[in-house]
Amino acid sequence: MVGLIAAVVSALIAAQAVIATPVRSRTAYQVKETHNVPRKWKRVERAPQDHVINLQIGVKQSNYAELERQLYEVSDPDHHRYGQHLSADAVTELVKPTEETWGLVHEWLEDHGIVPSSYSSSKDWLMVALPVSAVESLLDTEYHTYEHADDKTRVVRTSAWSLPAHLHAHIDTIQPTTSFFRARANAFEHIDGALWRDPNYAPPSNGTLNQVCNVSSVTPECFQALYSTKGYHTQAAGKNQVGFTNYLGEHPIRTDLDLFLKKYRPEAVSSAQDFEQIVIADGPGDIPLSPSDLEDSTSKEANLDVQAIAGISWKTPITSWSTGGSPPFIPSASTPDNSNEPYLVWVNYLLSQESFPQAISTSYADDEQTVPIAYARRVCQQFAQVGARGTSLFFASGDDGVGPSDPAECISNDGQNTTMFLSLFPSSCPFVTTVGATQNFEPEVVAYRPAFVGPDGVAHGNYTSGGGFSNYFPAPYYQEAVTKHYVDSLDGLYDGLYNKEGRGYPDISAQGLYFAYFWNGTEGVISGTSASTPLLTGVISLVNDALIAAGKPTLGFLNPWLYKKGWKGLTDIVSGSAHGCDVDGFPAVKGWDPVTGLGTPIFPELVRLSGGKLPHNY
Ligand SMILES: *[C@@H]1O[C@H](CO)[C@@H](O)[C@H](O)[C@H]1NC(C)=O
Ligand SMILES: *[C@@H]1O[C@H](CO)[C@@H](O)[C@H](O)[C@H]1NC(C)=O
Ligand SMILES: *[C@@H]1O[C@H](CO)[C@@H](O)[C@H](O)[C@H]1NC(C)=O
Ligand SMILES: *[C@@H]1O[C@H](CO)[C@@H](O)[C@H](O)[C@H]1NC(C)=O
Ligand SMILES: *[C@@H]1O[C@H](CO)[C@@H](O)[C@H](O)[C@H]1NC(C)=O
Repeated sequence: MVGLIAAVVSALIAAQAVIATPVRSRTAYQVKETHNVPRKWKRVERAPQDHVINLQIGVKQSNYAELERQLYEVSDPDHHRYGQHLSADAVTELVKPTEETWGLVHEWLEDHGIVPSSYSSSKDWLMVALPVSAVESLLDTEYHTYEHADDKTRVVRTSAWSLPAHLHAHIDTIQPTTSFFRARANAFEHIDGALWRDPNYAPPSNGTLNQVCNVSSVTPECFQALYSTKGYHTQAAGKNQVGFTNYLGEHPIRTDLDLFLKKYRPEAVSSAQDFEQIVIADGPGDIPLSPSDLEDSTSKEANLDVQAIAGISWKTPITSWSTGGSPPFIPSASTPDNSNEPYLVWVNYLLSQESFPQAISTSYADDEQTVPIAYARRVCQQFAQVGARGTSLFFASGDDGVGPSDPAECISNDGQNTTMFLSLFPSSCPFVTTVGATQNFEPEVVAYRPAFVGPDGVAHGNYTSGGGFSNYFPAPYYQEAVTKHYVDSLDGLYDGLYNKEGRGYPDISAQGLYFAYFWNGTEGVISGTSASTPLLTGVISLVNDALIAAGKPTLGFLNPWLYKKGWKGLTDIVSGSAHGCDVDGFPAVKGWDPVTGLGTPIFPELVRLSGGKLPHNY
């Protein structure tokens, strides 16, 4: 895939190399980045010198500040450019490196006898596969093998690396070096008969909801009634699309989607055959579950995602991307390091496409502090490019409230073991819309299922909608007033445990407990913000459908609109809190809160507020 992109741009690059004949610059190496190894990772041994690393070099973008400025203009409903999303070429023009950056970086690589094997379509990332020995000399560092305490996964990483001084301003980040970031799914299944029941649950008094909503197994019929999408028929399926991403070897299974739709949305059953599956970087293909998938419970997350979307957004065409390059991985000399964080591979693939779906769901995240800040910024900047081109990206807020249940794990990676709440990335990126979870119906409250032991003796951990404040990204302007208001209202509660100035998340929420779903031909229930995220994405894709029907642009990067206008089309969630780190965690309150964001969708209101077209009977 990446190879194809390289072929297309290689001619351009060759031309540029001739024009740009930089002065031979050589300066001494200086440390570019240090990052403490996260506490769950233990250093094992020196990395094998011939182990191959797929190095990704993030070179400085020529005019990212301007891209961000334009992104905000086209996403602000009060701006005259609102909805005038940027073309792929316009985005590339703003982020491609300058000739000076290009020349200096290639000169340095040439000095080491290195030719990049491929480039991102905007040439803001260079890729090259190299043995550890070569990377160590290039970055003046030493790589080690590290092992994760819980699952024994191994990666080859370093805790510091260097660059010639004159290149510090031209290269933002290089990975894999110091990043211990991994994809983590935010879903967990419930074994039959082991459902925890909320003692505060009361059945809905509304006759419609009462008939279709079963708190032990929520279904598309319930979501359609709860969020008022029932009876809406898509009007722009040829122009509107919805998508979701898969990592960790996950891929959606058509036969399970078929069973699910036959039971819960029979009119939509053709989606099981029709949805598109795209494979990136040797990800898993469109095949049935293999014996090892069955053994590892692989594709429960992917099945949940496709079923949640297909159940709500029919007839909107669905695209699924399965990106390879996931742990577990045991380093050996001959296998290239396949444990790179794969979001970057996916987003750079997406950006190389002429067009892509206008609403995309991702249910994976990891602790923000496992990602070095420079790398988090650059991945977030790639998401900003997607937003500028008119697509809403949705990410799950996590299933751990303000942090893990065990307070001993609520610890900073600052080298001092400072106690703090743990935020997640990409959930904390200001250019994505982060989705929290709710449960019950009248009213909907924060999703919270305390740990319990089922009748079969199986122990289930705590689950709460995740939420908090970024330690890397400041609160963006669109939410500054509400996050400040929320922090003030806490009146000192949890002071010192979170960053008061940080980007607060989630932004929005949807149901996230006990979704009916099929896997391996069998029905079960599954929970998590991993359920909320595709469901919410499906609802927003219907809003986009109504916008296209009205001849208007789709919502694009959602947050500026959501905080300014869209919140009036949401049900505010005011009960529950983000339990974690052995405290009750941030409470849900009137208005925005870092547990359920601004609330859950009321579809016809969102359509009206956005200027979309509703059928006459709506
Ligand atoms: C609700 O769902 C549970 C779990 O699937 C099921 O056992 C129960 O019979 C359902 N209740 C109703 C009223 O349909
Ligand atoms: C019950 O809920 C449905 C779906 O949200 C709604 O259309 C209807 O107006 C509600 N009925 C009452 C009496 O509130
Ligand atoms: C998958 O389904 C088959 C057929 O029903 C069953 O025999 C098998 O035990 C199932 N495997 C798992 C892991 O659920
Ligand atoms: C932090 O905790 C780890 C063990 O979890 C320990 O090895 C280390 O010495 C501690 N550091 C400080 C500064 O207390
Ligand atoms: C669940 O959370 C409670 C309250 O914070 C805590 O006491 C308990 O140890 C947690 N249980 C598990 C299994 O993590």
